[in-house]
Amino acid sequence: MSQLQMVVIDADESSRSNVIRLIEEIGFVELIGDFENMLTAYDVIMQARPPLVFFDLTENIDLALDTIEKITSIHKNIFIIAASESVEADLVIQSMRCGAREFLVKPVAKDDMQRALKKARNAMRQDQDTSEGKIFSVFSNKGGIGKTTLATNLALQLTELTGEKVCLIDLNLQMGDIATFLDINPSFDIAYVITHLSRLDESFLHSSLEKYKDKDLFILADPPDIEQAEEISSDDISTLLTFLKSMFGYIIIDTSSSFDVKTLTCLDVSDYIFLVLMVNLPSIRNCQKCLSLFKRLEYDEDKIRLIVNRYVEDDEITTEDVEEALTHEIYWKIPNSYFAVMSSINKGIPISELDTDSDISRNFIRLAEKLSGISSNLAGEEEDDEGFLSKLDLEPVLEKLREMNLPIVNKFLNQQEQ
Ligand SMILES: Nc1ncnc2c1ncn2[C@@H]1O[C@H](COP(=O)(O)OP(=O)(O)OP(=O)(O)O)[C@@H](O)[C@H]1O
Ligand SMILES: [Mg+2]
Repeated sequence: MSQLQMVVIDADESSRSNVIRLIEEIGFVELIGDFENMLTAYDVIMQARPPLVFFDLTENIDLALDTIEKITSIHKNIFIIAASESVEADLVIQSMRCGAREFLVKPVAKDDMQRALKKARNAMRQDQDTSEGKIFSVFSNKGGIGKTTLATNLALQLTELTGEKVCLIDLNLQMGDIATFLDINPSFDIAYVITHLSRLDESFLHSSLEKYKDKDLFILADPPDIEQAEEISSDDISTLLTFLKSMFGYIIIDTSSSFDVKTLTCLDVSDYIFLVLMVNLPSIRNCQKCLSLFKRLEYDEDKIRLIVNRYVEDDEITTEDVEEALTHEIYWKIPNSYFAVMSSINKGIPISELDTDSDISRNFIRLAEKLSGISSNLAGEEEDDEGFLSKLDLEPVLEKLREMNLPIVNKFLNQQEQ
């Protein structure tokens, strides 16, 4: 784990210097600011979002406790070490209730500080494993391959299945389609959020993201003007995504089909890149180019998940051929359902809502299950279907078919009997 960034707030200069000296001696923490005034510190914390804060409670206790509560309600994974000369049980309990996770007595001793920082480091390791949102980017360097279809349906199914809040971002900044696919008319877009990054907090984002129907799915649409897209920098995107990770369980990004700096920034910070392809030579060749670039970028193999879209069985090129050509395993296959997908796009209703029983909808549910590790009741339904068929006595029908002695039927019957 890299150095933990920390902010120190203490109105008393000598006590602040003592804390800074201890932090420097202990070593694995990087001080990014020390403040006499807690309100100035609050603004910095909201912007820089350091994982660690030392917060003195000796003066202005009520305001200090309110500030701690405000910080922890927005920045849930922050580790606040409260400190005071007073060791009254009431104060300790109040600070913990407001969200502080450690309490030290002033003047702070080195051993105590060391213990608190180690505790913070361990807590952060656990938080990183469990509570940070996952970023999934849907990418292909070829247009029209099904990125938006996958991104919208996956986002919707993850919302339904996991009960987590999901953010769907249109980073196809010049030709985004998410608003059209979902038939929404967002009041704000990513350019608006990025020009107000200094105001970035949970309540600002909630008012700027478009909620999809009554679901916990929040959309950040592409800007209406191409000029606005140009003004967005890769640093802005990185800041925004880091923030969104603390607010959402899943962040699904629909990307553009080029290797521009913004797209690469988002691929860099993604937990998984869903590299979408079709089973045909041009698509496989393009995919090879992507994989070779990802190798040069030293992306972990496991980060790249190949997704075959518009899959048809008995294709001339098999999935084994594709895997061999790409020396990469295929993670998922989405069936070809042209009319269903076109109808859903034209109506502005995701296929997962328009036709919940279709193969392709079930496929998206299965994908959401695989990614989240949560199972839907689909398995039960499918077992029931099988159970229903198994109750039918098919033997008389099969006997009749055998009597007909047609080659195609015989082939089918032989396969069934094997
Ligand atoms: N599983 C599928 N089965 C059949 N047709 C599909 C499937 N997925 C996508 N399509 C078709 O492919 C077209 C392109 O899909 P989509 O817009 O999702 O691709 P995209 O990669 O986002 O395109 P762009 O590069 O323009 O953003 C759709 O209009 C749809 O008709
Ligand atoms: Mg698209």
